[in-house]
Amino acid sequence: MKIDTTAYLSFAGKTVLVTGSSRNLGLTIAAAFIEAGARVIIHGSEANLKTAHTQLQEAYPEAEIHPISFDLGDPSAIDAAFDSLASDGWMPDVLINNAAHLGLGESGFLEQSPEFFREVLEVNVFGAFRCAQIVAQHLQAKGGGAIVNISSLAGQQGIYGRSAYNVSKAALDGMTRAMAQELSGDGVRVNSLVLGYVWTERWNHLAEGVEDQRRKNVPSAAPSSQEEIARTTLFLASESAPTLVGAQVVLDGGMGIQQLPQDVGV
Ligand SMILES: NC(=O)c1ccc[n+]([C@@H]2O[C@H](COP(=O)([O-])OP(=O)(O)OC[C@H]3O[C@@H](n4cnc5c(N)ncnc54)[C@H](OP(=O)(O)O)[C@@H]3O)[C@@H](O)[C@H]2O)c1
Repeated sequence: MKIDTTAYLSFAGKTVLVTGSSRNLGLTIAAAFIEAGARVIIHGSEANLKTAHTQLQEAYPEAEIHPISFDLGDPSAIDAAFDSLASDGWMPDVLINNAAHLGLGESGFLEQSPEFFREVLEVNVFGAFRCAQIVAQHLQAKGGGAIVNISSLAGQQGIYGRSAYNVSKAALDGMTRAMAQELSGDGVRVNSLVLGYVWTERWNHLAEGVEDQRRKNVPSAAPSSQEEIARTTLFLASESAPTLVGAQVVLDGGMGIQQLPQDVGV
């Protein structure tokens, strides 16, 4: 008996859009898809996108990379961006809804301004919804494809002072299930990758002791690396497991299943 364990992870001939790939996690995910043979659409703000594009071109001189900048908080900009992708022959076979407004920097729930709350939801929910809707219509017409929504434990648990972000990730998880139920029969597989504890450059600015304190809440005591997240995203977007639909795959070092850190006792 022979089982092919690698062919399914090839994205040769596929076009992949990774939203929010101008830096951090999205950029690593975009690089992983390039490594796997895809032509990749990178997305973010103009300035960051330019740097990301140069970085990727230097690392992968042969790769086909298409940068596009649009504001996920602006519905008409989203529609215009997909019109241009369609006319340029860059409509994606795979969408990774990775971009997010992290909802940082505002006060707690009681003081939260409706404007800020709406701003976070516009990007994380409506922006992700509109990208997913347009790509799903295209995939349904062409007979299938995959969408991966990058979610967070924040959709299942509270993070103090980040209620808008909490709400937005819970909504994204709901969208994953609703889309998967309606679309998997047409070959459009929708899943979400739920992250908990991820190293990004923001950690370089954490106050003294915070990192150690955070680690106590993670049984594995280690953050998920961006490479690990990128590999898992590739798996979810691949055809390795065609009946994996509407799943919330949790990659969090056990953060979501721990009630109390080891040194608290009972
Ligand atoms: N990092 C973590 O610890 C963690 C944990 C759990 C889940 N996650 C999830 O993982 C994903 C990536 O996180 P990250 O830490 O890499 O985020 P990040 O460093 O803040 O990057 C966010 C990306 O989204 C883009 N973006 C944000 N708002 C946008 C808008 N209105 N229009 C267009 N693009 C926009 C940014 O583009 P520009 O910067 O170029 O504007 C950037 O490329 C997010 O979905 C996040 O919720 C992260």
